[in-house]
Amino acid sequence: MLAVQNVTRVFSGRAAVDDISFSVDGPAFVGIIGRSGAGKSTFLRMMNRLTDASAGRICVDGRDILALRGRDRRAWQSQCAMIFQQFNLVPRMDVVSNVLHGLLNRRPVLATLFNLWPRADILRALEILDRLGIAEQAPKRAEALSGGQQQRVAIARALMQDPRIILADEPIASLDPMNAQIVMDTLKRINVEDGRMVIANLHTLDTARRYCDRVIGMRDGRIVFDGTPAQLSTGVARDIYGADHSFNEAATSTAIPADATADAAYAARLMA
Ligand SMILES: Nc1ncnc2c1ncn2[C@@H]1O[C@H](COP(=O)(O)OP(=O)(O)OP(=O)(O)O)[C@@H](O)[C@H]1O
Ligand SMILES: [Mg+2]
Repeated sequence: MLAVQNVTRVFSGRAAVDDISFSVDGPAFVGIIGRSGAGKSTFLRMMNRLTDASAGRICVDGRDILALRGRDRRAWQSQCAMIFQQFNLVPRMDVVSNVLHGLLNRRPVLATLFNLWPRADILRALEILDRLGIAEQAPKRAEALSGGQQQRVAIARALMQDPRIILADEPIASLDPMNAQIVMDTLKRINVEDGRMVIANLHTLDTARRYCDRVIGMRDGRIVFDGTPAQLSTGVARDIYGADHSFNEAATSTAIPADATADAAYAARLMA
């Protein structure tokens, strides 16, 4: 499904992403980890064509999405929705309008300017909010919601695009552990139930281990680890983060309590 081939991005003579290659067969939950400056965001931005690559190909079902121009490039951008650490909602606008903005790429400018949306779109936005457990927030201004609720609105906006791939750049870095867990559970549900691939840059090891099928470790623009969470030992993690023997996993931890009860409840929800 996804084949990243020798992708490089150079900024003023220095490679932020340096000749990376990997492929993903099905709609997996892929986590990218690595210290600050490793090139994680640059890679996601190339995936959804916010930044151009200096070299390489990113093939999705055999088509090189780095070569798309104009209308095709915009169509691709709506197929791979982006979620950011800071949510990027319009704070003074109500929640349901924020979700409807996921359709911006497909709407005439004037209709958007006057906030005129077809009834069917509004109903779909409400349905998505309901699915994510925040239907009652629909009429409120986005700024009135908690961080975790705002990130779920951002996920709802992404779903409004009906994307094949969801790219999340540190989606829980601004959230407390409880909200972080809700947001990660939500992304996992979308991945499992809808079969949408999720690629998430994550700043903590425990989150990567808990939610991902596949973890990619980046260091100085290169891939230094590509494997399953089970293969991500402390020694490997130390290598990815370029830390010495004083490396402490807790320093990369959000300390989400991974107790058996929460895991069981989560599993039950996924099976429901
Ligand atoms: N627009 C830009 N112009 C110049 N240099 C850039 C630009 N964007 C990123 N870089 C550089 O590329 C490198 C990788 O940055 P990137 O933001 O991809 O790292 P990251 O892994 O996402 O880090 P963080 O964990 O801090 O978000 C850094 O050295 C950064 O300074
Ligand atoms: Mg980043």
